[in-house]
Amino acid sequence: MTGTEDMIPLRPDRNIALELVRATEAAAIRSVPFIGRGQKERADGAAVDAMRAFLSTVEFDGTVVIGEGEKDEAPMLFNGERVGTGKGRAYDIAVDPIDGTSLTAAGRQNALSMIALSDRGTMLDASSVFYMDKLVTGPAGVGVVDIRKPIGENIRLLAKELGKPVDEMVVSVLNRPRHEQLIQEIREAGAGTRLMSDGDVAGGINAARHGARIDMCVGVGGSPEGIVTACAIKALGGHIQGRMWPRDDEERERGLAAGLKMDHVYEADELVSGKNTIFVATGVTDGQLVAGVVREGGYVMTESVVLRGHSGTLRRVSSEHLVEKWL
Ligand code: FBP
Repeated sequence: MTGTEDMIPLRPDRNIALELVRATEAAAIRSVPFIGRGQKERADGAAVDAMRAFLSTVEFDGTVVIGEGEKDEAPMLFNGERVGTGKGRAYDIAVDPIDGTSLTAAGRQNALSMIALSDRGTMLDASSVFYMDKLVTGPAGVGVVDIRKPIGENIRLLAKELGKPVDEMVVSVLNRPRHEQLIQEIREAGAGTRLMSDGDVAGGINAARHGARIDMCVGVGGSPEGIVTACAIKALGGHIQGRMWPRDDEERERGLAAGLKMDHVYEADELVSGKNTIFVATGVTDGQLVAGVVREGGYVMTESVVLRGHSGTLRRVSSEHLVEKWL
């Protein structure tokens, strides 16, 4: 024995994330016929059906806090829907059967199927404001970077903490006209950008996980995606802050009426309070985080990640599925 038993107490408990991964795998598998076929809605519909069917088998009492709802105009997995067997621990659940429906339809990289969970009543319902400004880094950024600081300063501070030159820093950001100034400032600071066409959940996780090639993920993306990302980042011990980004006064008022704070920086514990977060994702198309789902003859191969705040683990699950079982 090495003495590690002193450092890592053995208190194993049930990890439903390992059951939930079947639901993201199913969603990814069902989206295969639509990858690169220009059929965004059909891909999403197939993924929603599959995820919902598999979720119903998992022993937990889930309430959808972030569903397909408004953003994708989907009739299932809507906010407030109860999922799971109804027995066992009560959880808030956020689902995104495909984050990157356009990527899927186009056959471009980085589309994921994902589910995030946290104990009942701990997930911020940010759905009344479509967008959130976010800053995500790995553990090195905790107590170092701050979304209120200029991006150049955050890059310099994180570079110092990571012990690397600023010109080796890599910052991912969604490629959108609203980020023109931000992108310019990142480059002026001396860092390189990785522009994402979609999928900022994967971008955030890639900024926070050990061994990734991204140091920071910044900018305005979906607010539901911000909550989902927070579940993953808490499990990775990383940094995440979010600030509501209403598009107009009407949305701002709607957010305020729903109890959201504007001009407020939501820290990780406000986005998702509590440590018992779970995040599972399966690749739909290839990406840095996971490989996409592929059919090879009689098999469909999937790759997934399973993260859990309680234990601070990131597991990779590679599965081979017999096609005939899915017909
Ligand atoms: P969808 O899968 O719902 O299309 O979301 C993809 C996505 O890129 C998210 O990852 C991101 O948070 C959001 O859309 C950004 O929104 P927009 O495309 O309006 O800038």
